[in-house]
Amino acid sequence: MNDIKKPLPPLDYIPADIACAYDYEQLAQAFIPADILAYIAGGSGHDITQRNNQTAFQDWAIVPRLLADLTNANTEAQLFGQHFKHPVFLAPVAYQSLVHPQGERETASAAEATDSCMITSTLASVTLEQIVARAKPPRWFQLYFQSRPEDTHALINRALAAGYEAIVVTLDAAIQAPSIRAIRAGFKLPGNISAANLAHQRPDEPLQQRPGDSPIFARYRQQAPALQHLAELIKASPVPVIIKGVMHPDDALQLKALGAAGIIVSNHGGRTLDGAPASLSVLAAIRCAVGDGFPLLFDSGIRSGSDIFKAIALGADAVLIGRLQMYSLSVAGALGVAHMIKLLREELELCMAMTGCASLAAIRATQLQTTLSGH
Ligand code: FNR
Repeated sequence: MNDIKKPLPPLDYIPADIACAYDYEQLAQAFIPADILAYIAGGSGHDITQRNNQTAFQDWAIVPRLLADLTNANTEAQLFGQHFKHPVFLAPVAYQSLVHPQGERETASAAEATDSCMITSTLASVTLEQIVARAKPPRWFQLYFQSRPEDTHALINRALAAGYEAIVVTLDAAIQAPSIRAIRAGFKLPGNISAANLAHQRPDEPLQQRPGDSPIFARYRQQAPALQHLAELIKASPVPVIIKGVMHPDDALQLKALGAAGIIVSNHGGRTLDGAPASLSVLAAIRCAVGDGFPLLFDSGIRSGSDIFKAIALGADAVLIGRLQMYSLSVAGALGVAHMIKLLREELELCMAMTGCASLAAIRATQLQTTLSGH
C-alpha cells in the first residue's frame, strides 16, 4: 500500500536545506513510500525501545573545557589490527534497493569516498562482489546463520573470497517481534527486491514442530545458531569475528571468553525485543565487564555527532549508523550517504574540540554529566 503522494526520485545533488545529519531523517519522508518508511523507521512491537534509543542520549550533557591543546588532534581508531580514519561505520542494513535503485552499490561508493567501514548485510539486495567493486577496504560482512550449516559456510567462504576483512555475526535477530507500524502500513517486500546473496539457497525446511509446540520456539530452534556453531566459526575464521546484538554484561563476558574479537552493543535499533533497554543505557556496564582494550562497538539511536561523542565517552571504540544511512541514500544516493557521514564526523569533531579531546581515547565519561536531575 503506497502513499498517495508520489515519493520523489533520489537527487543528484545535496539539497540546500540539509544543515545537520539528522535533517536526512526529516527530508527522507518525501523520498520514501509510506509503507517502506514504516518498515525502515519502525521498531518491533510498539516502537518503545526504538524511541528510547534516541531519548537516552538526552540523559547526558557534554561538559565544555577551555584552553585545550589540539596539536595533532584526530579521530583515528585502531581496531582488530585495522586502521580507521574515523569511528563512524555503516551498520548492516538489509534491502537498500528499497530506497535507491542502485541500493548498496551507492552506499559502498559513499563508504569509499569517506573512508568509512561498510558492513554488508546477509540480506543485501545486491551481491557481495558488486559491493566490493565499489568500496575499497575496510569492508566487513554481517552474517546471519542460515538454517542449513552448508549455506552458512558457503556465505562465509564467498565473503572471504570477495575480500571482506571481518565477519560480524548478528545474534539478536534469529526471530524478531513484528513491527506493528509496518504491519499497519501494509509493508511487504516488493517482488523485485530480494536477498541477492541467498538466491541460490533452497527454501527453508518446514518447521520441525513437536505436537503442541509453539511455532515461535520451533522457529527459534531452527534459526538461532547454537553456541557450538559459533565457537566453531570463531575458531576456524581467518578474519576477526565480531558479535552484534549484545545487551548484557554476562553475554559480553561469555563471548569474550569464547574468543570473539569484539562485540557490538546493540538492540538492532529497537527492531528485536520491544521493551529492551536503550542500547546507550547498558553500554557503560558492558564496557566495565569486558575491560579496557577489548574492542567494543555501539549502535542504536545515533542521530548526531554529539550522540557519537556520548557513546564513545561511555565506552564505545566506534559506532554504527543504521537508519540515517537509508534516509540519506533515499535523498541523494552515494552523495547523500557520504554527506551524512561527513556531517556526523564534523559534529563529532566539534564536540571533541570544545571538550579538549585531541583523540578518541581522550573522550571519557568524565566529559559527561547526567541530566537525569532534570537540569
Ligand atoms: C537493520 N539492522 C540490521 N542489522 C543486521 O545485523 N542485519 C541486517 O540485515 C539489518 N537490517 C536492518 C534493516 C533496517 C531497515 C534497519 C533500520 C536496521 C540493524 C542495524 O544494523 C542497526 O543495528 C540499527 O539500525 C541501529 O539503530 P539506528 O542507527 O537505526 O537507530
